[in-house]
Amino acid sequence: MKKNSKMNMKKLPKFSSRVFLAPMAGITNPAFRLLCKEHGAGLVVTELTSINAIVAKERLLKEDKKKITEFIEFSDKERPLSIQLFGSDLKILEKAVKIISPYADIIDYNMGCPAPNITQQMAGAALLQETKLTREIFKTLVKNSSKPVTLKMRSGVNQPDKFLKIAKIAEEEGITMITLHPRTVEQGYSGKSDWSLIKKLKKSISIPVVGNGDIKTPEDAEKMIKETGCDYIMVGRAAASNPLIFSQINDYFNTGKYKEISPKIKLKLFFTYLKYAKKYPSIKVSAMRMQAMNFSKGCKSARKLRGSLLGVNDVDVLERLMKEFYDTL
Ligand SMILES: Cc1cc2nc3c(=O)[nH]c(=O)nc-3n(C[C@H](O)[C@H](O)[C@H](O)COP(=O)(O)O)c2cc1C
Repeated sequence: MKKNSKMNMKKLPKFSSRVFLAPMAGITNPAFRLLCKEHGAGLVVTELTSINAIVAKERLLKEDKKKITEFIEFSDKERPLSIQLFGSDLKILEKAVKIISPYADIIDYNMGCPAPNITQQMAGAALLQETKLTREIFKTLVKNSSKPVTLKMRSGVNQPDKFLKIAKIAEEEGITMITLHPRTVEQGYSGKSDWSLIKKLKKSISIPVVGNGDIKTPEDAEKMIKETGCDYIMVGRAAASNPLIFSQINDYFNTGKYKEISPKIKLKLFFTYLKYAKKYPSIKVSAMRMQAMNFSKGCKSARKLRGSLLGVNDVDVLERLMKEFYDTL
């Protein structure tokens, strides 16, 4: 690590647990994040957020016509909160990080998104091939953020050949923590994530490493830490249908045991989620509906429920259908 960047390095906040909620577009809205936080997530991360969109709102913010929470919704109860950014135009990045970092506890930078609409803008995982530009991005982020900057990435584009180089650059430029989802862009979500790459990463840098990919149970969480030596772990899809996985993992780490969660207990979380979601104008009924389906996974007759939820666009109807379903369990 360069001397300069070490001196300028901003400290990470204290985390209440070693298990973090992964950013998931369409899922990790403020209602879902709060639910996960309440059930033991040590850190929650927003969905990926466009730097262009932030800068486009700058004028309204300056004129005091809008508040930041109208663009990036969050509550203080979620803290520590990591806001994830994507986009590679350096001037826009500089502006966006100056606007947003006072509200975040961590700024996370996305170099993992494989979606063509993101990679075609030279953002997300496409940057894994652009070491020169990547260095400039890290410099810009670290210089202009009032908060620590972290990185989340995949292992490469076609081959897992880029992450170690990028991680070195990140460390040199003052990035404070790196999350690795060890799949290539080409893999998408297929196959299994290659945890041996997390071990390689941990051995090659001295900043904290967050291991991510395919943790479905507390036993998986323990296995990843044992196999890779990573400092923290991050859970995505398994949390989408069971936010209680955070307390299960915490219990397992602390006592060696954890409670099994019945489908009915899991489904009950939906009503708390709905109560929170109703407070945020940006959360659409379609997102609530998707969450209803996620929470009902594993319930008897879940398929029938899904059929009846299709096309429901009214919160009250959604709530009524879910209550009726809950009462049948
Ligand atoms: C629906 C969905 C949306 C996602 N959105 C993001 C995102 O906005 N930013 C990001 O860095 N990763 C995103 N990811 C990737 C996850 O953060 C995580 O790296 C990946 O799902 C692997 O972890 P898991 O096996 O625990 O799900 C998304 C994944 C899914 C399934």
